[in-house]
Amino acid sequence: MTQSTTRYLSDYKAPEFQISTVNLTFSLNDTETHVVNEMAIKRLTENTQLQLDGEHLTLLKVTLNGEQLSAAQYQLSETGLILSLPEEDNVLVIETQIDPLNNTALEGLFKSGDAFCTQCEAEGFRRITYYMDRPDVMATFTTKVIAEQEQFPQLLSNGNKVDSGQLDGGKHFVTWHDPYPKPAYLFALVAGDFDLLSDSFKTSEGRNVALEIFVDKGNLSKAHHAMTSLKKSMQWDEEVFGLAYDLDIYMIVAVDFFNMGAMENKGLNVFNSKYVLANEDTATDTDYFNVEAVIAHEYFHNWTGNRVTCRDWFQLSLKEGLTVFRDQQFSADMHSAAVTRIQNVRVLRAHQFAEDASPMAHPIRPEKVMEMNNFYTLTVYEKGSEVIRMMHTLLGQENFRKGMDLYFERFDGMAVTCDDFVNAMADASNKDLSLFKRWYSQSGTPMLSVNETFDDGSKAYKIEVSQLTESTKQQPEKYPLHIPIKVELINGSTGAVEAHLLELTSESQVWTFDGYEEKPVMAFLGDFSAPVKVSFEQSDDELITIMQKANNTFCQWDAGQKLFTRYIFRLIEDPNYQLPEQLINAFKDVLSNEALDTALKAEQLTLPGFGEIADNAKVIEPEKIIDALNTLKQFLANGLSEHLLTAYRNCQSGERTPQTRSLASVCLSYLAVNAANHELVEAHYQAGENMTENLAALNAATNQGLSVRDSLMADFERKWLDTTLVMDKWFSLQAMQQGDDTFENLKALLAREDFSLNNPNRARSLIGAFSMNNPKHFHCSTGRGYEFLGDQLEKLNTINPQVAARLITPLLAFKQYEPKRQAMMKAQLVKLRSLDNLSKDLTEKINAALD
Ligand code: TRP
Ligand code: ZN
Repeated sequence: MTQSTTRYLSDYKAPEFQISTVNLTFSLNDTETHVVNEMAIKRLTENTQLQLDGEHLTLLKVTLNGEQLSAAQYQLSETGLILSLPEEDNVLVIETQIDPLNNTALEGLFKSGDAFCTQCEAEGFRRITYYMDRPDVMATFTTKVIAEQEQFPQLLSNGNKVDSGQLDGGKHFVTWHDPYPKPAYLFALVAGDFDLLSDSFKTSEGRNVALEIFVDKGNLSKAHHAMTSLKKSMQWDEEVFGLAYDLDIYMIVAVDFFNMGAMENKGLNVFNSKYVLANEDTATDTDYFNVEAVIAHEYFHNWTGNRVTCRDWFQLSLKEGLTVFRDQQFSADMHSAAVTRIQNVRVLRAHQFAEDASPMAHPIRPEKVMEMNNFYTLTVYEKGSEVIRMMHTLLGQENFRKGMDLYFERFDGMAVTCDDFVNAMADASNKDLSLFKRWYSQSGTPMLSVNETFDDGSKAYKIEVSQLTESTKQQPEKYPLHIPIKVELINGSTGAVEAHLLELTSESQVWTFDGYEEKPVMAFLGDFSAPVKVSFEQSDDELITIMQKANNTFCQWDAGQKLFTRYIFRLIEDPNYQLPEQLINAFKDVLSNEALDTALKAEQLTLPGFGEIADNAKVIEPEKIIDALNTLKQFLANGLSEHLLTAYRNCQSGERTPQTRSLASVCLSYLAVNAANHELVEAHYQAGENMTENLAALNAATNQGLSVRDSLMADFERKWLDTTLVMDKWFSLQAMQQGDDTFENLKALLAREDFSLNNPNRARSLIGAFSMNNPKHFHCSTGRGYEFLGDQLEKLNTINPQVAARLITPLLAFKQYEPKRQAMMKAQLVKLRSLDNLSKDLTEKINAALD
């Protein structure tokens, strides 16, 4: 049993020692890497006991101020090293040995294929050497890397290259120096034999920055989109926030074995190759979008994260919420702002709302943590970004920018808190944000209830908005929040639209609008101005008016989604419910509206997913949701068949763009419902000019269980067998199959030579796709879906706890399901809890769900 202790935000204490410089020397070797760590340490208080973090290390030698310490002079444990520093200024040298080859957790120093690579956030540096592994300890790092020259011609670390040379026995070394003091989580080292794409960028301050992207041999042609994205990000941050890059070199390395998307290590980002490599044949339009967004995200961290970092890990949203907000704004500027916003909201509604209703619900600034890796969540990232966005809405762009400038003026080079950020925003704008700060400490999704009245006599339109956040296990008491609400009032007869920004600051508030001859139609929560749910009874006609007349594109889309959701729930209650023809007409108008953006049409026509519907159900009965979704889809496919076909043909005949492809894909997914169009699906695949088109056909064939699917999948496999990232897509499509032999097939997939739980992308592509995107089989009434996930989690628990803890998510929500499923899901959690080597990561989540 791993030691499982919970840490609390309220226990924060400033460090009692300061590490000013660190000199690291790595002698790289697969199973016996030698690390020498020389630290200049200053004692800041009377306390002489220095506690260093360290895990999975073999300690070789400790030297303090020139004298080697004996084992009696320090206390060594599974989690660290304690020793006494009687002097005020000290030089401490610690030598450790580590085993990168067998490091399957991918934290600390590990092998990704033939390359050495590190991942230190949040607490991975302690797997490299003994250290004060906390973000408020910031030191200047110098790193010497020694390795075989032939196998590892490229030796990289943070900062600037200051020395290099040959050594005996076919070895060489490179020394790097990073002039910016940083916490250990931003340390990085990479050694390998890569292809290199080089470019440069001249900053607004006149600095010439070398840009270098390292990829596996043979992949150079897939690195250009990442390079273009990097230059766009650098340009954008200068233009919008006045922030320029601060070193002479910016490196990105793409690796195949990586727990998350990417990591913002100072001057040396390490990326999951999924977010670097792209060409038309192998990457979809969505992949292109995501590569650009993740490149931007990591680049933006150089200021929001690295130059100003977090005081402690409870403050994670200080850098992540803010940096997600910045990358979302960047994407909105590069592409369609409306479509980007709609996609952000979809993620939030389908996944973050569910997290906020789950046993792991936490505020964007958590108050207690057992395993920090468990808090790189949709709540900290996406809801965190929504909280920044609300300040942006309340302050306006100009004052927000002033707040950012003040934040950097006050805190550059420091490790600070979320409160420090909000205070800078408040001080720069003279806006009172004291109540607003509650968003940082309260979990759960608020529900806004709206009531409207129209007085024919006084011609006053009055709305009352009240807020309620349901109590959660961790936080029984909930309080009112400061909520910005954008509304539009649409005059039904003239079509005139009036926009307002309302600030809800108490449990319930009333607003009155005068001068209406008839009751206006209100488009509520424009741009999704707050991360809340809304209960507001509007008629179908009113929703259709909003779809057609609101200025706010988000509201247009959202009104359509409300219509869909309304009828899905009618069908859940009564499978024979007769759907109204009006629904068809509304979406006919969408498809034939020439003024409407093509990509927006695609968004309008996309039904809410299983997860979003489940999140709004009182008790989840999976078949009922699946049947309702299918019935609605069939109804729309029939009623819109000609319009869908016309829209599809228009997309295919003109110039093809990401926008036309997105609409063509959505149309195809509807068309595939009817047998008459099955040949169209095959033709779409055969004539596909790129991965987006091929995948659209395979998705349609998979979701509808078409007979042509197997042969298309076989063709796809033949073509892409040697291309890892594309085969991940193939595994996901296999995981989503609808047939009766799905479980037998899953077993065969697990047994394939190219399947391995050691590769997180591959594990996620099969196991994650199955449990998230195949509700029919995951929630199979026999319980085999839950068993499948439970079995894989048991193996992953020892291989890679971080990945296991992410994949367990769908089981944690068991209480929301009908009793039979609930019992079977719970049984898997109970079984996992009884493992005698259960990781901290899984322990924390399973305990939260079961206790
Ligand atoms: N800081 C990274 C980001 O959001 C994410 C990150 C945290 C991460 N821990 C990680 C990435 C572990 C990879 C592995 O940009
Ligand atoms: Zn980040």
